[in-house]
Amino acid sequence: MSEKPWDGRFSEKTHRIVETFTASIDVDKRLYSYDIEGSIAHLKTLEKAKIISEDEAATLIQGLAVIKREIDHDRFEFADSLEDIHMHIEARLLQEVGKVAQKLHTARSRNDQVVLDVRMYLRDHVGQLLTHLQELKKVLVALAKDTIDVVMPGYTHLQPAQPVLFSHHIMSYYEMFKRDGERMTDCLKRINVMPLGCAALAGTTYPIDRHFTAELLGFPEVSANSMDSVADRDFIIEFLATAGICMVHFSRLSEELILWSSSEFGFVEIPDAFATGSSIMPQKKNPDVPELVRGKAGSVFGDLISMLTLMKSLPMAYNRDMQEDKLPLFRTVDTLTACVEVYTAMLPRLIIKENVMQAAATRGFLNATDMADYLVVQGMPFRKAHACVGKTVGFALEKGRELHELTLAELQTFSALVKEDIFEFLSIEQVINRRRSFGGTATDNVAAAIETAEQDLWPED
Ligand code: ARG
Repeated sequence: MSEKPWDGRFSEKTHRIVETFTASIDVDKRLYSYDIEGSIAHLKTLEKAKIISEDEAATLIQGLAVIKREIDHDRFEFADSLEDIHMHIEARLLQEVGKVAQKLHTARSRNDQVVLDVRMYLRDHVGQLLTHLQELKKVLVALAKDTIDVVMPGYTHLQPAQPVLFSHHIMSYYEMFKRDGERMTDCLKRINVMPLGCAALAGTTYPIDRHFTAELLGFPEVSANSMDSVADRDFIIEFLATAGICMVHFSRLSEELILWSSSEFGFVEIPDAFATGSSIMPQKKNPDVPELVRGKAGSVFGDLISMLTLMKSLPMAYNRDMQEDKLPLFRTVDTLTACVEVYTAMLPRLIIKENVMQAAATRGFLNATDMADYLVVQGMPFRKAHACVGKTVGFALEKGRELHELTLAELQTFSALVKEDIFEFLSIEQVINRRRSFGGTATDNVAAAIETAEQDLWPED
């Protein structure tokens, strides 16, 4: 037999440099278990169609099991000359069971085989990511519950705006990661489609039952067009886009933790086990974990752009360019998994500086909107109230005091509508608890949001 399974028409050997250049084994060996599982289902399909005998199927399946154990236990030799994982396994099968191995590659090609492997890999990993995301959501809800009464300044434009509950802020991330999980679950529908048996591009002449293969491999759907089956990488792009959005959320949370743990803010402290020091400045404790997560977002966005660019000009159907799909996919799966894991471990240990946050929330006129609302309740039109409070703030700034630190007499010089009850009205508790509109920061609202989340996350309790 010739050296490569495809070199029958070739008159010279592949150049060494081309072998190295075209090989993908270093990357795609990660697919081996899916490749073997797919081949086993394929053999059963061939047997059912009477293309191979029961004995042949049994021999080949046994051979594949031996190979799986070898790779599992690092007893398998990889070489660039065999290009990819599919050819490695087939070549080894030939050694293991003899000539009958040459029957395995009937009614399929590597074009449908590789995309089957990737789909199986991705559905597994999306499943794992969903489990990890669920853990992260639990950790966020537990953190919000533990800190339900902690008050902090809420920001717009990174300028202190109105007081909010820290738990409300944390629950905003719960909502983001919840959507990420939903998007990922939705991706699964498009990933979970069985392409095998489409062969190179046009389908196969053999009477195979593709639905049977799908059933064996647990695919709810069989791809409907053979050309699309071997050329479609939308499911990878869609996953990478979903991962990219999720990394945006991680990156924003990271940015906040980096700011909050600075001495300027001092709202939180990163636990020692999740921080590092400086080799030159002994006083330093650096938020490396959030920084790295923020940095890794860039590589995930890059992987999405790689895939979009890879696919955008490819004529139908399979093109070898597509071999380049695995590196960005694997990298993003690894990166996202690592980020979810590290955050799930770190967040429960975050040190919350309640007093610093509370103090920051009672400075900087965060109750100015509420003073305007107070005047509106007393009958003043909002525009006028806004101007009146503006003047009061100007006066307080001059005196170096907050609105609630002015005397009643001072406040009354700006509006006679102000009465003694203004002070209670401007207290941080009231400011927060008046925001009772659905989704607002009032304590009862946040407690209800936490309860809804708990019912979602722990439905059996
Ligand atoms: N290693 C190839 C890939 O990852 C497998 C498919 C090869 N097909 C081909 N016609 N050369 O895409």
